[in-house]
Amino acid sequence: MPSFRQLSLLIVVFALLGTAGCDRVDPNSPVAQRRKVFKEMTKARERLLAYVKETKDFDADAAIRDAEEIQRLSRQPWPLFPEMKQAGDVGRATDAVWQKPEAFHQLAKQIQNDADALLEASRKRSLDAIKPAAHKLEQTCSSCHDQFRQS
Ligand code: HEC
Repeated sequence: MPSFRQLSLLIVVFALLGTAGCDRVDPNSPVAQRRKVFKEMTKARERLLAYVKETKDFDADAAIRDAEEIQRLSRQPWPLFPEMKQAGDVGRATDAVWQKPEAFHQLAKQIQNDADALLEASRKRSLDAIKPAAHKLEQTCSSCHDQFRQS
């Protein structure tokens, strides 16, 4: 039989575990799903940027695959922002997402166009073609984050 002391200790441990789990986001929620897409998009973009910054030897085939990945992912986050703001679906989005939906969706469209252009550039198998297209994409990520993501 555990003593009273041991039992109280267990209760404290479970209480601590319980609160630690509090800020975990439900993995099936739109917030978790769109964050997963953003993270994957960031990984592909970082691989491409390593060529652009010339910290890694250019691999034209890998660059095309990364650009394809970015293009595919660039379509995905936007339907995961609910049309009406709901508690629990906000994540780190600012109120502007729901207050200025046209501006938000315009940038969402812009990133898809940038991703299309980046893929086209990567198929030329030239770093000089990729550089400006990657730069353009970067600017769109930043301008959306400036207005629509909490820092
Ligand atoms: C149209 C607006 C928009 C564009 C374009 C955009 N983002 Fe975001 N991004 C957001 C918003 C809003 C959030 C906050 C999401 C949340 O917390 O639910 C976010 C979150 C993120 C996060 C954090 C994910 C996390 O785990 O919390 C990363 C990383 C990210 N974006 C990367 C990118 C990259 C890379 C690009 C460009 C290739 C990009 N985003 C383009 C709006 C945008």
